[in-house]
Amino acid sequence: MTKIIEKYAELPKPLRKPLWKWWHRKMNQYDSGNVANFMNYGYEYLNGDVRVQLKDQDEIDRYCIQLYDHVVNKFNLETKDVLEVGAGRGGGASYISRYFKPKSYIGMDISKSSIEFCNNYYDNVEALNFVCGNAEKLPFDDNMFDFVINVESARCYNNQLAFFNEVFRVLKPDGKLLLADMIYPVEIDKLQSIIKQSGFDIVQETNISKNVVSALEKDSDRREGLIDKKMPKFLRKSFKTFAGTLGTSRYNNFADGTFQYLSFVLEKQK
Ligand SMILES: C[S@@+](CC[C@H](N)C(=O)[O-])C[C@H]1O[C@@H](n2cnc3c(N)ncnc32)[C@H](O)[C@@H]1O
Repeated sequence: MTKIIEKYAELPKPLRKPLWKWWHRKMNQYDSGNVANFMNYGYEYLNGDVRVQLKDQDEIDRYCIQLYDHVVNKFNLETKDVLEVGAGRGGGASYISRYFKPKSYIGMDISKSSIEFCNNYYDNVEALNFVCGNAEKLPFDDNMFDFVINVESARCYNNQLAFFNEVFRVLKPDGKLLLADMIYPVEIDKLQSIIKQSGFDIVQETNISKNVVSALEKDSDRREGLIDKKMPKFLRKSFKTFAGTLGTSRYNNFADGTFQYLSFVLEKQK
């Protein structure tokens, strides 16, 4: 299993979806007690940048939250309608709803068990709702959202062009897609060309690989502890690889540049 995780990004796309689904079912099965509400590699501010102020209850998820914060913090979301595609276990949706106060926030994911978890766990956060759906065929009308957020999810999709076309369709004119994901350097040109093909302007593209590596280093003990506590022994090594803890091939791939991590601000042209 660890080998499959190591090679996950190289697997043929049709194999990735069932693997994802199985993986998330396992997470939801072993963490019904809601300890792991994020599934991203995190972000640490570098060069003396001021860290986001968090409530005590959120400190435990600081690095994963900071990735979401990096993605949205240039924008005022108040009065805005926001969709998140690939919301996972809803930690980012909850953070943005509580700290940025959008008019509405829909967290969508393809995993039924994650959406079930979110609907039970976040039922007291105002303006926040979760629905099941596929990024490649969004279950929404045209021109509905001011912002679409996508964190560490797009590289799982079978048809990325379909995803970008769908986001373009559901965004209002001038609406923005805020995206962060890992990528192999050789895939960057193709991604940029798909983005342009779907009609988006690339307003900003930032390489945040160093921020992600720093976050992985600082968050490694917490991730390991969580996996040791929650997962059965036979799955621990694979989950640690997947979580990018220190010494795993996933961490090494980020540290040596095999994997890069990019964030984008994309705008729907009128
Ligand atoms: C690495 S997790 C990231 C979750 C969340 N964004 C976070 O940062 O915690 C990727 C998520 O993308 C979801 N996903 C994968 N393929 C999808 C698709 N075609 N449509 C919607 N969600 C999808 C997975 O179910 C998973 O929850």
